Amino acid sequence: MRLTAASAAALASGSLSLLTACSDETLAPSAGPNLAQTGTLSRNPLRIPSTIAPTGASLTARAARLDLGGGQLSNVLGYNGLFPGPTVVATRGNSVSIPFTNGLSEQTTIHWHGMIVPTSADGHPRDAVQPGRSYTYSYTINQRACLNWYHPHPHMLTGKQVCLGLAGAFIIRDSIETGLGLPAGSYEVPLIIRDASVDSSGNLVYKPRSGGFLGTIPLVNGIRNPYLNVDTALYRFRVLNGANSRIFGLALGTGAPFHLIGNDGGLLETRAQLAQITIAPAERLDLLIDFRGLPVGTHVMLRDVRAGWDLLDFVVTRQVSVGATIPTTLSTISKLSSPVRTRLFSFDGMSKINGKLYDLNRVDFQVPFGQTERWRFITNGNAPHPVHVHGASFQVQSRTGGRNQVFPWERGWKDTVLLEDRETVDVLIRFDAFRGLYLMHCHKLEHEDMGMMTNFQVI
Ligand code: C2O
Ligand code: CU
Repeated sequence: MRLTAASAAALASGSLSLLTACSDETLAPSAGPNLAQTGTLSRNPLRIPSTIAPTGASLTARAARLDLGGGQLSNVLGYNGLFPGPTVVATRGNSVSIPFTNGLSEQTTIHWHGMIVPTSADGHPRDAVQPGRSYTYSYTINQRACLNWYHPHPHMLTGKQVCLGLAGAFIIRDSIETGLGLPAGSYEVPLIIRDASVDSSGNLVYKPRSGGFLGTIPLVNGIRNPYLNVDTALYRFRVLNGANSRIFGLALGTGAPFHLIGNDGGLLETRAQLAQITIAPAERLDLLIDFRGLPVGTHVMLRDVRAGWDLLDFVVTRQVSVGATIPTTLSTISKLSSPVRTRLFSFDGMSKINGKLYDLNRVDFQVPFGQTERWRFITNGNAPHPVHVHGASFQVQSRTGGRNQVFPWERGWKDTVLLEDRETVDVLIRFDAFRGLYLMHCHKLEHEDMGMMTNFQVI
């Protein structure tokens, strides 16, 4: 931890006042590159979630008291008492069998966001696990290497449970990705970025608004004001927007570019260099950041340019020479084409799709197995709506109106796409893994809980 002389003296004298007085208000946006880093702000070491294998471990959702940085314990909900929950690391072809116990006082489920799984393992709100009960989620992984995640999906309680801490990363590996020799070990770091609000005792609190929960502070891997000591090396960051509703505009304080190599559905075909990237709730990014050639002592701030927040301070602390190249060609993506039909989905207000509120027991449409379809997402206002589909990945074809383009981070395979006001977004999708009941919804979790969700059946 970096301390100014004053705060070091305070620590030495046993006073933690400077640390505890370090409220959100002191987190003024930096006026330019590398300014905030030299201030009096005490930063906390980034937490790297522990990992578990897809079999042999179990998950329990329960209340816990955790240090979110700064030494104070906060009330949260966590998988196995952790926030974020443990990262599941698995390889394509693996069987997953995870016994889950609901240690909450209300119903919950686990949804494996981005995993293509049978309905029985999808965590549908119809399959709620009651307090004190258990359920084993079992499936086989047959999809590309990527970063997915898991979170609750109970009827009308998803926003609350996610906001209070229930979420974890799920990394799938495969031989194509391994063959690229991307940064690994301590050079591959998951970053779950979200916002939060805390009460005067430092406990996470959920104050839903129909327009979407917006917290007052950022958290990265459940830590306030984090820093990460880095070597002069190439790093791979597996980024998830785990916020209920907030969109982040990621950039580096130095102005250096990110090397974007993947998103929701894994590696892109080719990399892209970008100074700024928009990430909506539930979207993922696979980013390389190059710290090679930077002098020891350099600070590089990961920033959210939308809120003007400093998210994570990378501190170059060790000179190494580790060989690594940034591959230009990453993977092959077979393009979906020739849709047999087009379905229109209108995201209406803050709680309806095609004029209907979600009904747990109503199935709104049927999708034939194995056929490529065009799904067209429109909205009559109250966007942004990050649209998420269960049961298959899709490919974004076009965005007309509004921002009027498909961004580099929206190429390849996706399971969540951001729909802003006045936009029409077309995707191609094909359900070719399982028949059964699946969901599509707005991943602004307050919209989802208010009813902006629909059941469909793959037949
Ligand atoms: Cu990440 Cu249906 O959700
Ligand atoms: Cu919405």
